[in-house]
Amino acid sequence: MNTNKLTAIRGAVLSFKADPFFHDMKDCLVYKEDAVIVMDTETAKIVKFGDAKDIIPTLDKQIEVKNYGKDSLIVPGFIDSHVHYPQTEMIAAYGEQLIDWLNNYTFIVEQGFKNKEHAKEVAEVFLKEQLRNGVTSATTYCTVFPQSVDAIFETAAKYNMKIMAGKVCMDRNAPEALLDTAQIAYDESTALINKWHGKGRAEYVITPRFAPTSTPDQLEAMKALADEHPDMMIQTHVSENINEVAWVKELFPQSKDYTDVYAKYNLVRRRAVYGHGIHLTERELDVFSETGAAVAHCPTSNFFLGSGYLNVRKLKDEKRPVHVGMGTDLGAGTSFSMLQTMNEAYKAAQMNGKPYTSLHAFFLAGKGTADALGLGDKLGQIKEGMDADIAVLNLKSTPIIEYRMKYAKDLEEALFIQMTLADDRAVSATYVAGKEVYSAK
Ligand code: GUN
Ligand code: ZN
Repeated sequence: MNTNKLTAIRGAVLSFKADPFFHDMKDCLVYKEDAVIVMDTETAKIVKFGDAKDIIPTLDKQIEVKNYGKDSLIVPGFIDSHVHYPQTEMIAAYGEQLIDWLNNYTFIVEQGFKNKEHAKEVAEVFLKEQLRNGVTSATTYCTVFPQSVDAIFETAAKYNMKIMAGKVCMDRNAPEALLDTAQIAYDESTALINKWHGKGRAEYVITPRFAPTSTPDQLEAMKALADEHPDMMIQTHVSENINEVAWVKELFPQSKDYTDVYAKYNLVRRRAVYGHGIHLTERELDVFSETGAAVAHCPTSNFFLGSGYLNVRKLKDEKRPVHVGMGTDLGAGTSFSMLQTMNEAYKAAQMNGKPYTSLHAFFLAGKGTADALGLGDKLGQIKEGMDADIAVLNLKSTPIIEYRMKYAKDLEEALFIQMTLADDRAVSATYVAGKEVYSAK
C-alpha cells in the first residue's frame, strides 16, 4: 500500500448496514464513538475502518490522522436521488403549483442551457453547493441540450464526484426551443451514453422528463434505449400533483393509471427512479414493489409546490416493499441540505400520522438512497471496500444547537436535533473519492 495515497480521519462514525424499516435497529446501526477511517485516494475506496484504538497501532507513522474531535459525527456522504441542476438559478420562484411553475419559470430558465458556457457556470455553482452540504453524489436531470450533460459530467470529473445524469427528452407540451423528437432523443441519448457512461465515475441515466412531455412515439424510443441498456438507470416523474395525474389520464386514456403509462414502455424496473409518487394507488405501488423501481421522496419540493406529502411508511410495507430514496428536487426543492430535507420529511410523515425516528431518516439519506438507486454495493456505508465519499458534521454548528445538545439524552435525540435545526453550517468537511474537497475552515 502506497502510504502517500492514504487519507485518514478520526471521530464518531454513524453508518447503517441494513434497513431499519424492516429490521431491528440494533441489527442495522453501526455507531462507533471514536473511530478511524483510512481512505485510498488512488482506488477511491475506504481501506480501513474500525475503533481508533484498534486502527491507530496498525498505521504507518507517516500517515497523518485528522481528528475531528468529540463534537463531530462522520457519516457516509449524502446522496441526492432526484435533483435538477439547471434549476439552481430559479430556486425560490413564487406562487405556482407544478404545471404553471414549469411553464412560467422552469421552461424559461432551461432554454439558457443551449449555451455551454452558461451550463458550465451553473454546474460549478451547483456541485460546489452540494459539497458544502456534504452531498457527494446525485442523480440529476440536465436539459434537452446535450451540452448541458457534458457540462455536469465535465465539472463532476474535476472533483472525481459520482454523478448520475441524463439529457431530458421531451417532444410535446413545452416551448418549441426545448423540444426534441423521438429520433433525436434516441440519437442524442445514445451518443451521450457512448461518450460518458462508465467514464471515470460518470453514470448515464435515461431521462424522459415525464409522461405529459413525451408522445407515445418518444416513449417507444425510451423503451428502445431502456431495452438496449438493461442495467442503466432511468429517471422521470410520477404522480406528483393531482392536476398532473388528471392530465396524464386525458393524454393516455388507454392506460390503467400513471404508472401503467411507463410500464407499457418497460420503464418501470430496478434502477428506475421516479420523482415524488405522492398519489400512487395501491395497484401502482404493487407494480413498483414487483419491479424494484424506486420512489424519490422530495419533501421540500412537495411542500413548496403544494403537491402533498408522501407516506414513506406506506411504501416501506414489508408485504410489498418499495424502494425509497431522498431527494432535494431543486429548484422546486428549497434546500441543498439533506439535513433540511430530513426535517421536512419528518413533517410529511407527521401529516400522514406515520412518523419515523431520526435514525430512520439518516438511513434514508445514505444507505437507503444508495440501495434505491442500485448503488448499495458502492455507496451509502462506511465500510472497507466502499467508495470513500464522506461527510463530517459538526454537532454544535450554531449557538442554539450547541445549547440544545446539552440536553440530548442519546444518539437518536442528538440526530433529531441535527436534522431539525442544522443545515450547511453543520458540514465541517466533505471527502470525495478519498480526498478532502470541502472544508468549512
Ligand atoms: N415534473 C416534470 N418536470 C418537473 C420538474 O422540473 N420539477 C418537478 N418538481 N416536477 C416535474
Ligand atoms: Zn423533479
